[in-house]
Amino acid sequence: LASSSRPIHGGNLDWAANIAGCPAHQILDFSASINPLGPSLRVISAIQQQLSTINQYPTPGYAPLCQALAEFHQVPSNWVLPGNGAAELLTWAGRALAEMPATVLPVPAFNDYERALAASGAVVNRRSLIDVAGHLISLPDLLTDVPSGWGLLCNNPHNPTGQLFDPAILPDLLDRLALVVVDESFMDFVRPECSAIPLVEHYPNLLVIRSLTKFYSLPGLRLGYAIGHPDRLQQWQSWRDPWAVNSLAVAAAIAAVTDREFIAATHRWYAASQPLLHGGLSQIPNLYVYPSSANFFLLRSSTPSFTTIQHQLLQEHQIFIRDCLSFPELGVNYGRVAVKRPPENQRLLAALQLVCGL
Ligand SMILES: Cc1ncc(COP(=O)(O)O)c(C=O)c1O
Repeated sequence: LASSSRPIHGGNLDWAANIAGCPAHQILDFSASINPLGPSLRVISAIQQQLSTINQYPTPGYAPLCQALAEFHQVPSNWVLPGNGAAELLTWAGRALAEMPATVLPVPAFNDYERALAASGAVVNRRSLIDVAGHLISLPDLLTDVPSGWGLLCNNPHNPTGQLFDPAILPDLLDRLALVVVDESFMDFVRPECSAIPLVEHYPNLLVIRSLTKFYSLPGLRLGYAIGHPDRLQQWQSWRDPWAVNSLAVAAAIAAVTDREFIAATHRWYAASQPLLHGGLSQIPNLYVYPSSANFFLLRSSTPSFTTIQHQLLQEHQIFIRDCLSFPELGVNYGRVAVKRPPENQRLLAALQLVCGL
C-alpha cells in the first residue's frame, strides 16, 4: 500500500500510525515542516467565498494573483508566474536547466529536485554540503570551481540542513553561470533581506521559486510561484497547461499574502519558539543539532540510530519525527524535526530526553 510504505516526504501519518498502533489523528507530527498556526481564518473564508465560482475556468493569466504577489515582493507583475505548488515550477526549472552542459545540485536535497531534473534529462553534478565527518560545508565553498556556463539549483534556507546563505554571494555566480534557480520555499520564516528577489531584475539568468505550503500552512491547496525575467516566465507558461492553478488556490493566495495579522503572529511565534527548541535539542544527550535558520532542525545521532529513535518515539509517545533515509547522503544516523508550538515542542523534548538518554 502506497500510504503505508516508508515515506519519502514528511507528513505520512498513515505510515506512522501503523507503527505507533494508534489512529493517525492521535499522532503529534514533527515530520512535516508546516507552520502550526495556519492556515489563517481569512484564507479559509476566501476559499469558502470562492466556492460558487468553481463552475467556471480560472481567469487566464491570473492577473489579480500576479498583482498581489508582485505588490508583496515589490516587483512588476509580469515578473511573477503562479504554479501548482513550487513542485510544478521545479519541473519547468528542470527543463530550463536541462539546456545547460550540467547543473550543480548541492546535496542532500529536497527529493523532488531529482525528479524535476531527470524529467528533462538534465545532467546533474551533485556536491555534498556535509563532509564525511558530518560537518557542514558552506555553499560558497562548494561552488568556487563551478565552470562558467553551467546551471545551479539551490535552496535557501536549505532543506534539510537549515543552512542560510547570504544573497551577496549570488552576483559573482550569476556573472559566471548560465542559469541559477533559488528555491526559497522556507524563506518567509526568515528576515526578508535574505531573499534573492531584489536581484532578479538585474539578472535575467536568476529565477526564484517560492511556496505557500510551509509558511501559510497550505500543502493541500498547491500554490507556488516563480519570480524571474518575463521572457523566461512566458516560455514556462508556453510549456504547460493554461490553468495550472485552480480558482480556490488563487483566492486563498491573495488572502494569504495580504493577511498582515497572520504574518505578524507567525513571526512572533517563530522568534520565540525556534531558538527555544534549538536550545532544548542541544541539551539532549547523544544528539547533535545542526544550526538552522529554518523552521526545522537536522539532527544526528549514532547510538541509538535515528530509525530506533523514530520508532521508539512513535510507539511510546505517539510522536512522529522524520528519518532521513530518503536522502541518500544521510542515512540512518540523521533525522529532522519541525518547530511547533511551545507545549508541543516541550513534549518532543521530554520524549527525546527519555529515548536518547538511555
Ligand atoms: C525545499 C522545498 N521546496 C519545495 C517544496 C514543495 O513545495 P510545494 O508544496 O509548494 O510544491 C518542499 C516541500 O517539502 C521543499 O522542502
